[in-house]
Amino acid sequence: MIQTDMDWDDFLLPYDQAVEEMALKFTLLRDEYIKRGEYSPIHYISKRLKSVNSIMEKMHTKNITFDEIAYKMADIAGIRLVTQFEEDIELLAKLIATRSDMKIIERKDYFKNPKPSGYKSVHLIVEYDVNTIRGVESIIAEIQLRTLAMDFWATIEHSLNYKYRDEMPGELKERLVIAAKTVHELDREMGTIRDEIADAQRLFTRKTEIIDAILENLNTLGKQGKREAVKRYFKNFTEFKDSDNTLQLVLMSKEIERELEEGSVEL
Ligand code: GTP
Ligand code: MG
Repeated sequence: MIQTDMDWDDFLLPYDQAVEEMALKFTLLRDEYIKRGEYSPIHYISKRLKSVNSIMEKMHTKNITFDEIAYKMADIAGIRLVTQFEEDIELLAKLIATRSDMKIIERKDYFKNPKPSGYKSVHLIVEYDVNTIRGVESIIAEIQLRTLAMDFWATIEHSLNYKYRDEMPGELKERLVIAAKTVHELDREMGTIRDEIADAQRLFTRKTEIIDAILENLNTLGKQGKREAVKRYFKNFTEFKDSDNTLQLVLMSKEIERELEEGSVEL
C-alpha cells in the first residue's frame, strides 16, 4: 500500500543532499583534470532527484512497499556522467571504484549488453554516506555513464516513450534499434581519433594558459616602465596568436619572463 501520510520532504532530504554533493564532487574532479592541463573523461554532469510522483508510480508498477524503497529503488538520487568517448566510460568506472566515498554495490552493464530497445549505458549503483544533523545516513544512488552520442539517443527515445506511453509503433521501435547501432558506429569511429582529439584539447588548454601568462607579464613589464618592449612584444603576440603558432608563443613567454626577472633585479 502506498502511504499518503508520508513526509516526503523529510524522506527525500538526504537524497537531495547526496545528489548535490556527488554532482559537486564530479564537477571538482573535472576541474582537477582541466587545471592539471589534462584531458577530462567527464564532458558534462547532470543530476536529478526523482519526483514524489515518479517514486509513487514506480512503487505501484514494481510493487514496492514504502519500507522497501530505500534499497529497492536505486535511482531516487541520480547522477549522469556524459563522456565524449566510449573508452572514458571504463576509465570513470575504475576511478569511481577507487573512491573512498562511493561504494559500488552493483554494476549494470547495458554497454556490453544493450537493452532490447537499443539503450546503452553503464549504471553504477553506489552506497553514499550523507552527514546530516541527525547523523550519518547511508543512501543508494545511481550513476549513469554514457557517451554524448548515447545520451543523444536516450534523450530522443525517452521523449518518444513519453509520447507513446506503452504504445510505441513497432516500426518506430525498429528504427530506434537501427539508430542505436549507428550511435555505436559513430562512437567507434570517434574512438579511433580519441587520442588526437585529446591532444588537441590539451594543447588548447596549454595555449590559453600561455596567453593569460603573457598578458599578465606584459602588464607587469609596462609597470616597470618598459613601454617600447611591451609594444614590440604585443605586436608579435597578436601575430603568433592569430597564426596559431603555439611554439612561438611559448618561446615569447619565456623571453618576457627573463626580461621581467632582469627588471626586478634593477628595482
Ligand atoms: P527503471 O527502468 O527506472 O524502472 O528501473 P530498473 O530497476 O529497471 O533499472 P534500469 O537499469 O532498467 O534503468 C534505470 C534507468 O536507466 C531508467 O530510469 C532510465 O533513466 C535508464 N533507462 C533504462 N532503460 C532505458 C531505455 O530503454 N531507454 C532510455 N531512454 N532510458 C533507459
Ligand atoms: Mg527498467
